[in-house]
Amino acid sequence: MQEFAFPSPSVVADRLRERRYLADDRIAQVVFLADRLGKPILVEGPAGVGKTELAKSLAGVLERRLVRLQCYEGLDESKALYEWNYKKQLLRIQADDGRPWNELEADIFSDEFLLTRPLLEAILAPEPVVLLIDEIDRVEVETEALLLEVLSEFQVTIPELGTLQAASVPLVVLTSNNTRELSEALKRRCLFLHLDYPSADREREILLTKVPGLEAALADEIAKLVRSIRSLPLKKAPSISESIDWARTLLALGVRTVDSATIEDTAHVLLKYQADIDKVLADL
Ligand SMILES: Nc1ncnc2c1ncn2[C@@H]1O[C@H](COP(=O)(O)OP(=O)(O)OP(=O)(O)O)[C@@H](O)[C@H]1O
Ligand SMILES: [Mg+2]
Repeated sequence: MQEFAFPSPSVVADRLRERRYLADDRIAQVVFLADRLGKPILVEGPAGVGKTELAKSLAGVLERRLVRLQCYEGLDESKALYEWNYKKQLLRIQADDGRPWNELEADIFSDEFLLTRPLLEAILAPEPVVLLIDEIDRVEVETEALLLEVLSEFQVTIPELGTLQAASVPLVVLTSNNTRELSEALKRRCLFLHLDYPSADREREILLTKVPGLEAALADEIAKLVRSIRSLPLKKAPSISESIDWARTLLALGVRTVDSATIEDTAHVLLKYQADIDKVLADL
């Protein structure tokens, strides 16, 4: 019988909380379903809302190794899946004492000469891992296709070796900042999770969890202020990372309550464009 990691969504939330990741009902439900249905999770949303952290926290909760594929423009098969170790192959050919080519060929295209990259590594791991495919929207659509076999069959086909099937099914988390549309084929294979800025209550809780020594009243004030700042038409709204940084800043400066002078003095921690800072100060 198949073993599942979580008996219910609420247990997912409890276990994540122990790892200081505060999941709302939707996050907990999608993680629960990913485990039950054996499907990858596609987490999409603006910068700094906890997409990557979710995968890391899940690895912690499940006590699994995190295998991470960081995507970037130009990422190809040789960096995502596998590559043949040409140098080692050449050395073997040079050292060979005249075996027929087909024998030599079979030798140099064997496991021993294979350099595994994250996707293959996750597939070949004897124990189940958490596979994080971070910022998938940065690769070209054609490269996305490389992932499809891994995501739907949990296998990798290498022409010289045949098809390698996963020894154990990894929990896969893909993240996207939505800089481009992902292919339908990719989306179809995944459970979709949209993360957005949290409610003021949840952000307050996140601040209290992530910033030791922060008082509840100040956390409350910060969460509400950040929320109202996000409602302004800014070039770049402050993310959870920035509100955590702001809370740490105010704590370090010994601020007990936030007045407009404090905001003026520390807005650069929260906002990364001068135009945004000006807008917020004008709005005070
Ligand atoms: N639900 C949460 N509970 C606890 N901490 C959170 C939560 N969401 C976000 N954070 C904190 O916010 C910060 C940013 O999270 P993370 O790096 O995962 O963002 P991201 O969505 O991957 O951003 P980017 O798109 O820029 O990569 C981290 O320090 C993380 O701990
Ligand atoms: Mg990230």
